[in-house]
Amino acid sequence: MDKHLQSFIAGLPKCELHLHLEGSFEPEHMFEMARRNQVEIPYSSIEELKKAYQFANLQEFLDIYYAGAQVLLHEADFEELTWRYMQRVHAENTRHVEVFFDPQTHTDRGVAFATAIGGILKGLERARTELGMSASLIMSFLRHLSEKAAFATLEKARPWRAHILGVGLDSSELGNPPSKFERVFAKAREEGYLLMAHAGEEGPADYIREALDLLKVHRIDHGNRCMDDDLLVAELSRKQVPLTLCPLSNEKLQVCPDLSKHPLKNMLKVNLLVSIHSDDPAYFGGYMNANYLAMAEALDLNKDEIIDLAKNAFRSSFLEEAQKEEYLAEVEAYARRFSEKGMSV
Ligand code: ADE
Ligand code: ZN
Repeated sequence: MDKHLQSFIAGLPKCELHLHLEGSFEPEHMFEMARRNQVEIPYSSIEELKKAYQFANLQEFLDIYYAGAQVLLHEADFEELTWRYMQRVHAENTRHVEVFFDPQTHTDRGVAFATAIGGILKGLERARTELGMSASLIMSFLRHLSEKAAFATLEKARPWRAHILGVGLDSSELGNPPSKFERVFAKAREEGYLLMAHAGEEGPADYIREALDLLKVHRIDHGNRCMDDDLLVAELSRKQVPLTLCPLSNEKLQVCPDLSKHPLKNMLKVNLLVSIHSDDPAYFGGYMNANYLAMAEALDLNKDEIIDLAKNAFRSSFLEEAQKEEYLAEVEAYARRFSEKGMSV
């Protein structure tokens, strides 16, 4: 492993836009909480649980991910999960995060919306005050559930509207196209939420089109499959629609089992607004630094390309323009300092 490259990435100011809080649940923490909450998990040890993290596709992962989330019961559990995550990415010099949570994963098993979001908001607030990070929260609808269930979730979120920046769409993609949620997204848009959707992870390029044309999203999560459709690529590039890529997730879920064939470099060549994120780091083997490093090594990215990717993430965020500029200036200052020290990657 190239030590210069590793330390360059470690110090780079970073921005996380594609992170499921439930996917940051480390096995050790899950076991500790299961014991505390007296919830049974179907694995006899942490090692056995980790061994189960071999996925042939998205669904195999989701089954384990939803089972793991059942250990979260109390507001303090959600706060602890969030706070541990924030500390961890702060240590990697992640400066800004926009994190997802899946309310239905919790409300459907009798945990109140207020319990989940109350704890998460406390964790995020603690990171703002104690770690100086900026952070916002996005709630995702589970696309394998019905439109009616998504509407009910939007309703449950009403008292928390001021604390939720946007809505997303995740879970089992194939067979659950964005069109299924056109009316829910129209309502969320009316209520002033920012909009995004997972599309083109396992699903076809057409799902990305639907997310743009029917859901009117501002950002696409994943979007890998856009490369199958030249007209779509041209549109995404012209409109500079952000695509939040997750390399280690793509590797582990067999979306792109060989990272040397990952589309990221070609996406940069055709001027797509792409950036690197971690999706479900506790399940896929790494947080922000590991994802940057995996791409840099697999695609032989140079320092300028890595800097562009970090800047793209801040550009793709929902921060106010002035705050975006501040973070972009931080990235530039870091790149200059690194070159002045005579270090190249
Ligand atoms: N929920 C958590 N991670 C996800 C992913 N990679 N795709 C769809 N839904 C998810
Ligand atoms: Zn995701």
